[in-house]
Amino acid sequence: MTSTLSIASQKGGVGKTTVALNLGYALGVRGWRTLIIDVDPQGSLGQALSRKVSAAPGLADHIVDKIPLQDTIIRTRVAGMGVLPVGRVSIDRLFAFEDAIQNGVLYQIIEKCQPDYDVIILDTASGFGPTTVGAMCASTHLLTPVQAEPIALRSLPRILEWVGWLHDKGIETELIGILLTMLNADDPISAKISQELWSRFPQNLILSPPVPRDGTFLKANAAGVPVALLKRRPPPLTRVFDSLAGLVEEKLNLYTDDEDDEPIPFVD
Ligand SMILES: Nc1ncnc2c1ncn2[C@@H]1O[C@H](COP(=O)(O)OP(=O)(O)O)[C@@H](O)[C@H]1O
Ligand SMILES: [Mg+2]
Repeated sequence: MTSTLSIASQKGGVGKTTVALNLGYALGVRGWRTLIIDVDPQGSLGQALSRKVSAAPGLADHIVDKIPLQDTIIRTRVAGMGVLPVGRVSIDRLFAFEDAIQNGVLYQIIEKCQPDYDVIILDTASGFGPTTVGAMCASTHLLTPVQAEPIALRSLPRILEWVGWLHDKGIETELIGILLTMLNADDPISAKISQELWSRFPQNLILSPPVPRDGTFLKANAAGVPVALLKRRPPPLTRVFDSLAGLVEEKLNLYTDDEDDEPIPFVD
């Protein structure tokens, strides 16, 4: 079964889109057929990639104009991996888009994608507006990034409340964890936030390794690529996302016991 992971948080600018893109890429490189869907009406994933992705028809065009889904998924250089941008969400289309998502259109879209993907990552708008709640409802799993800055941890109870709300409604979306982002280990305040996180929340809810604060992300953003593709020799940050992808793989139960795990031919 395809696992669907929403990346959501109360606060903006905490690294959701960055995590969606780089974690998605790392899962794709590890061989999982991965689709990243931008559910944020502001189209932040497109902005992190290219103008071409931002301008391409996407989720909203599929929902509002009934453009076939397969015409909106952009293929990537990673085999089996795709990106579905949000598409055109002008103000006059926003309500129709939000309504459709609130009414469960993502369930149908995810169902259509199931045969082609092992993992679907939903990048969401900050806060818990209709599109983000719709994304969380349609997800099997949820990950919340939190920025390593003083008041950031205060927003965490909110996501736990939302998880409780989903469960009360009979929706079994599982919070796989909290991911500390923009951690500056040399800065005592940033390090203190990390300690506080470990002391206040159950260990199994804290994803590791944390994502360091690193200017490489801005360069990758400007170049419109995941950090791993910034240079021919991937920057060290690539390893952070590969480790995280390994952990997420376990948390999403991507390996099932009954699957035929056999050697993969190496030479022709
Ligand atoms: N670990 C990091 N170190 C430095 N800059 C980061 C990091 N993560 C994200 N950024 C930058 O911070 C800004 C906000 O990140 P983004 O992923 O768009 O957040 P969100 O999706 O939560 O609003 C972007 O310019 C991004 O490049
Ligand atoms: Mg974003």
